[in-house]
Amino acid sequence: MEQSSDTQRDLAVCGHALAAGEKTRRAADGAHDPTPTPYFVLEDLLGTLDLTSDDHLLDVGCGAGRVLAYFVGAGLPGRVTGVELDERLAAEAAAWSVRYEQVRVVCASALDLPLAPYTHVYLFNPFDTPVLRAFLDKLEREAAGPVTLTHMSDNGEWPAYLGRVGWSMLREGTFDLPGEQGDCPQHFSVRRFVP
Ligand SMILES: C[S@@+](CC[C@H](N)C(=O)[O-])C[C@H]1O[C@@H](n2cnc3c(N)ncnc32)[C@H](O)[C@@H]1O
Repeated sequence: MEQSSDTQRDLAVCGHALAAGEKTRRAADGAHDPTPTPYFVLEDLLGTLDLTSDDHLLDVGCGAGRVLAYFVGAGLPGRVTGVELDERLAAEAAAWSVRYEQVRVVCASALDLPLAPYTHVYLFNPFDTPVLRAFLDKLEREAAGPVTLTHMSDNGEWPAYLGRVGWSMLREGTFDLPGEQGDCPQHFSVRRFVP
């Protein structure tokens, strides 16, 4: 049977296809389903960030680790950390990535993770708006320098950014991604926060 190119890319870095199509076990905490970002989207959103060896990317809600796998497979410079609330998913991501020294996985809520080390943050629809607001408040308090934040969501993340000081929009757009009922437009924004 022919494997999708995303599966092949998972296999090349992780040794197995990463979990997809699961329902969240943490809905009571505002968590969304652990849907992996397609590789072609990561190439556009993260592959164009011009990361350097001094940069540190945080994937907020890393699931089984698709963003971490993209980071390794694309040979991006710097480091990447994934934080994941769901213990089973965090364990899967930690197990395959242990061989890559530039990758770290933390099993925790993003609301409990110190955010000062990160120069770049990626969110693919990880949680409900109240959690997003709390996360942005925390990032504003803890950022040690400028942070580039890339956010993709199908549920309108933009109101959470309204009225905030220190943020500027670098670019925005949409991707049509396959959903349960046909193609589902996902809005993305790339913003810069300067404390
Ligand atoms: C849509 S998936 C994104 C997976 C991965 N970032 C990617 O783009 O391929 C969202 C993930 O965020 C996780 N999540 C939700 N709330 C969280 C929180 N407060 N802290 C850490 N992870 C969280 C969910 O468990 C889920 O695995």
